[in-house]
Amino acid sequence: MVHHIERGGLEASYLIDYVIGSGKAALGYLVRVGDAVFQSPVTYYTELETWGMAPGMERYSDPDFTRPATADCLWCHAGRPRPVAASVNRYRVPPFDAEAISCDRCHGRAEAHLESPRASTIFNPAKAPPRERDSVCEQCHLSGLVRVLNPGQTFGSFEPGRRLEEYWSVFIGGSEGAAGQRRFQVVSHVEQLALSRCAEQSGEQLWCGTCHDPHSPPGVAAAELSRRCMSCHEQALDVDHAELANDCITCHMPKRQSHDSGHSAFTDHRIARRPMPHANPVQPQQLRPWKPQEGPLGLRNLGIAIIRLGQDEAVANSIEEGVNLLKQAALHYERDASILEALGTGLVLAGAPRNGLRALQRAVQLAPKRALFRNSLAAAWWDIGRRRESIAQIERAIRREPLLESSYYLLARVHAATGNPNSTRAAWNRLLENRPRLILPRQRVALRSVD
Ligand code: HEC
Ligand code: HEC
Ligand code: HEC
Ligand code: HEC
Ligand code: HEC
Ligand code: HEC
Repeated sequence: MVHHIERGGLEASYLIDYVIGSGKAALGYLVRVGDAVFQSPVTYYTELETWGMAPGMERYSDPDFTRPATADCLWCHAGRPRPVAASVNRYRVPPFDAEAISCDRCHGRAEAHLESPRASTIFNPAKAPPRERDSVCEQCHLSGLVRVLNPGQTFGSFEPGRRLEEYWSVFIGGSEGAAGQRRFQVVSHVEQLALSRCAEQSGEQLWCGTCHDPHSPPGVAAAELSRRCMSCHEQALDVDHAELANDCITCHMPKRQSHDSGHSAFTDHRIARRPMPHANPVQPQQLRPWKPQEGPLGLRNLGIAIIRLGQDEAVANSIEEGVNLLKQAALHYERDASILEALGTGLVLAGAPRNGLRALQRAVQLAPKRALFRNSLAAAWWDIGRRRESIAQIERAIRREPLLESSYYLLARVHAATGNPNSTRAAWNRLLENRPRLILPRQRVALRSVD
């Protein structure tokens, strides 16, 4: 498959290297450029039989093949990706050890089983305690609003048989409503199911595997699914109700008609008496952890989550809260680059660029390979008018990750702001040397534009 882009008389073509998704709702497309992987800006929506912008790219003014396919995407959508450590979207060659989701992602490492192939030598989620059982599906089915890694972990570190919170925290939005009535932003299957009376009242018996067998192809008949309901409800249902149908799903787990993104639930997993309105509005101010972490780790992860979200959603008042949490947590994590980067970014956003700069410098010292940390530091130098130091950091980010356009944008902006059209054009030209097919820099260079 080839994707073709055309804008303002310029065009480019990309050979598609990978397709993600089972295709039940949508298919996403990935391209390799050098050792990096990017997403195609278009997605095929199978139910609607139509092409559209990829989820999250609807508002891009100049969509192109620039959105990095990061390792966290691919740890959910593939078996075993091989990301280059500390990079944004660079992968080793070949980029995957296993393209499709592999057995070990739910059953744990295979070594012991290969030595002694018996049922007892694999981890079986169905027989595990509830938290360990649920964590297996949550590693991929619970994105929340933000996920924050614990120190030293990656999204590939999770081992079946452990609890998710040993590796990362998931933050969801929501709050206690006025009458003690819970109002979550219900998007994921995991969050919805937890809200159901069935889950609340069945003493942790109900889990994803009650209704889904991950080994079977999707599309279990409604009658079969309804038998799962009857395993708990047979006794109490009055005769009329039980005879209503051998289909409990149509009324109690209705489908939403259209869907806005590949990442929100389609089938209502709240299992309500009567159909309920869909998701409540997002309340990023009210971030809460899916499973609370104890002590300093809890402060650290919540603080990082607040700053990350604050950057995207511009929730100014919460930035200060994030900074305060991180200041307390930082005392316990002196060599933790992620905390320092978030703290530094938070301080810059909160109008204390000099303090922010110090934290960012330490973050870069501790994690010299992270191009994005260097760009944060570059922005902080720029904030206090130190152009040369700013450019030096961007250059080092580019050396580390030459295919990432955001560094060149920063560079062009720094040059443009000092009214230096030649250097600005040089920045766009350098991006073109590495990504010659991109439309925007080609337009900028052709127009001899200053910004
Ligand atoms: C936390 C794990 C996770 C991450 C991170 C994630 N996805 Fe997904 N994605 C899923 C799951 C699970 C589904 C299945 C639909 C659902 O949850 O409702 C899905 C669905 C999709 C679909 C629709 C596929 C289908 O079969 O209908 C596309 C396309 C997609 N994701 C692309 C992406 C891209 C691109 C990224 C990175 C920017 C990404 N996803 C990040 C877990 C993830
Ligand atoms: C390694 C990541 C991963 C894990 C672990 C995982 N899933 Fe999924 N699951 C996905 C993705 C991604 C999709 C979307 C379809 C696709 O991309 O193939 C999906 C789709 C599904 C679907 C919908 C099938 C369809 O095509 O419509 C069900 C049901 C499901 N998963 C159940 C489970 C259950 C139950 C568990 C735990 C036992 C689980 N999954 C664990 C990643 C995962
Ligand atoms: C998305 C998660 C997931 C993936 C991937 C997965 N399984 Fe499973 N597997 C499960 C779950 C959940 C059960 C328990 C089913 C039950 O008993 O309800 C299970 C059960 C089993 C069992 C029965 C174990 C016993 O104690 O009886 C075997 C064998 C098995 N899986 C093999 C595999 C193999 C081989 C693969 C790869 C080809 C694989 N599974 C991939 C989730 C998964
Ligand atoms: C693991 C056991 C279990 C399974 C499986 C189960 N439920 Fe329930 N469900 C319960 C319990 C316990 C309650 C609370 C007590 C009650 O209302 O009977 C409940 C409550 C309900 C309610 C009332 C909800 C409310 O808000 O008052 C409905 C409707 C319901 N279940 C439908 C279903 C349907 C449909 C299925 C299958 C898709 C299903 N349940 C599967 C255990 C289960
Ligand atoms: C009480 C039964 C039940 C339980 C428990 C359950 N599901 Fe489902 N799920 C369904 C039904 C019914 C569908 C719609 C199936 C269809 O249309 O083929 C569905 C569909 C899905 C889909 C396909 C996308 C969609 O929204 O239609 C995914 C993904 C999924 N479930 C994930 C999960 C995960 C993850 C869990 C555990 C948190 C879970 N489910 C627990 C009944 C259940
Ligand atoms: C035609 C739609 C429809 C079908 C089909 C249906 N239900 Fe219901 N069910 C309802 C409605 C509506 C209520 C709420 C009644 C009320 O609020 O008085 C309800 C209530 C319930 C309750 C709560 C009962 C109580 O006494 O509190 C349970 C449990 C339940 N249904 C389970 C099931 C199961 C299991 C099936 C499949 C055998 C099923 N339903 C099929 C419409 C349906």
